[in-house]
Amino acid sequence: MTQQFDVLVIGGGPGGYVAAIRAAQLGFKTACCESNPYADPKGEPRLGGTCLNVGCIPSKALLHTSHLFHAAAHDFAEQGISVGAPKIDVPKMIARKTDIVSKLTAGIKGLFKKNKVTFLAGHGAFVGKTAEGWKVAVGNEEIGARQVIVATGSSARHLPNIPVDNQIVCDNIGALDIDAVPKKLAIIGAGVIGLEMGSVWNRLGAEVTILEVGANFLPAADADIAKEAKKILMKQGLVLRFGVKIGAVKASKKGVSVAYADQDGKEEKLEADRLIVSVGRVPNTEGLNAAAVGLKLNERGMIEVDAHCKTNLEGVWAIGDVVRGPMLAHKAMEEGVMVAEIIAGQAGHCDLNLIPSVIYTTPEIAWIGKSEQQLQAAGVAYKTGKIPFMANGRALGIGAPEGFVKMLADAQTDRILGVHIIGAGASDLIAEAVTAIEFAGASEDLARICHAHPTLSEVLHEAALACDKRALHF
Ligand code: FAD
Ligand code: NAI
Repeated sequence: MTQQFDVLVIGGGPGGYVAAIRAAQLGFKTACCESNPYADPKGEPRLGGTCLNVGCIPSKALLHTSHLFHAAAHDFAEQGISVGAPKIDVPKMIARKTDIVSKLTAGIKGLFKKNKVTFLAGHGAFVGKTAEGWKVAVGNEEIGARQVIVATGSSARHLPNIPVDNQIVCDNIGALDIDAVPKKLAIIGAGVIGLEMGSVWNRLGAEVTILEVGANFLPAADADIAKEAKKILMKQGLVLRFGVKIGAVKASKKGVSVAYADQDGKEEKLEADRLIVSVGRVPNTEGLNAAAVGLKLNERGMIEVDAHCKTNLEGVWAIGDVVRGPMLAHKAMEEGVMVAEIIAGQAGHCDLNLIPSVIYTTPEIAWIGKSEQQLQAAGVAYKTGKIPFMANGRALGIGAPEGFVKMLADAQTDRILGVHIIGAGASDLIAEAVTAIEFAGASEDLARICHAHPTLSEVLHEAALACDKRALHF
């Protein structure tokens, strides 16, 4: 007999598993299906999607290990610690990362049990509409659901004529499993993955060259931040080439050669042991049988949704990387909660303008709201408070004086419009700025809040004070 659910979620990534848990909490009989090839000890697909298996979590584990290695090699001595030249055991580093992934993905199965979400192992594809809702094939079974939430996520975009074997030529999957420090590493794409993975291997001793088609570095970031980041990352040893056109890529068992034209059209060749291709991601909509049921996709293959993640089909919703908006785990989770709550008749809300961006380089980069260039283009009058970490006692104490916080507030109303951080702890510091902006806070609100001393949060506090030209420590 067909199993019947109130809500079926297709895809168990951060969007899907969170949507399923929230739907179950709201009293719906909920199932979530998942079909990825990453098997747990029972042989079932692991939950957690790209983020937990081959994205956010493993990349941050490797960033941490490589950060410690680099600190031991280069920064300990100035604090009077001598450890000799550190050695890296790459298989052990990878095994630690894999262990973290196993723990967290198994944890989600535990959360499903706790919240009474039914886990269905298998690929989900629409079959058709019935009087009760939707029929979806999950593996060999047919499932009935009143509401369907599509959370099928995204996969790495590959370039024509550059086959990815995830040994020598890697996308994000192979990049997180490289088993030895390459002498030379080539990366195509100076986006978030290129910078994070480039940082990992650069810190461990690889010569890293990143080839970027765009003329500018991090065009989505505030230009001041992008300029500072470029300067710092290049000083760390990352070689960045802009305005390139990738030509023939030849890979063998031993390595890879990448032909490219530089920004002046000069033909160049980059020889490397490994190549990472990180040129963005494409939505996973193939195999959903979308066309057969009339589910509308846009020209980029993403499922079309309104502000509430409602598709053109009654009772079908889509969230996360498979729809418009930033491809970020926390955005997918927000949308998952929103949709479950709307299905339950609640208000449900997700403001795409208030999704923080973070790049986990050293120093970290994080921002929320509008950049200075966006405000200028929109003709908005603003004031700026900009404070360097160099002026903060804690930053000096932890040996992280690089970077700054830049706050932008409306010149008339003082409402905070954007906060841009490059510096230690930026990924956590940004949360205060998000809260302030969500509450329509003014720079004066943050300026009048007591921040613990000595903390990095005082840099944000001083930036708020600086909006009113009354910084105390700079
Ligand atoms: P996904 O996580 O892609 O999950 C979708 C799931 O659906 C997958 O498990 C897939 O197997 C499954 N699926 C697909 N089709 C079907 C089907 N028909 N039936 C059943 N199951 C199906 N974001 C951040 O916010 N912070 C970070 O630090 C960060 N780091 C990243 C690092 C890397 C290297 C990468 C690649 C990404 C990173 N991201 C990060 C992005 C983040 O991983 C994604 O935005 C997030 O995973 C999207 O969640 P999702 O649920 O929409 O999709
Ligand atoms: P990205 O969109 O961040 O960067 C891709 C880069 O490749 C761009 O700079 C683009 O101009 C360049 N590019 C595109 N085509 C090219 C070509 N033919 N030759 C050379 N360069 C080319 O995409 P990326 O790095 O693949 O990451 C995918 C997504 O995953 C990100 O957009 C982000 O949403 C998510 N992510 C988030 C992280 C975080 O939040 N810290 C970490 C890693 C990934």
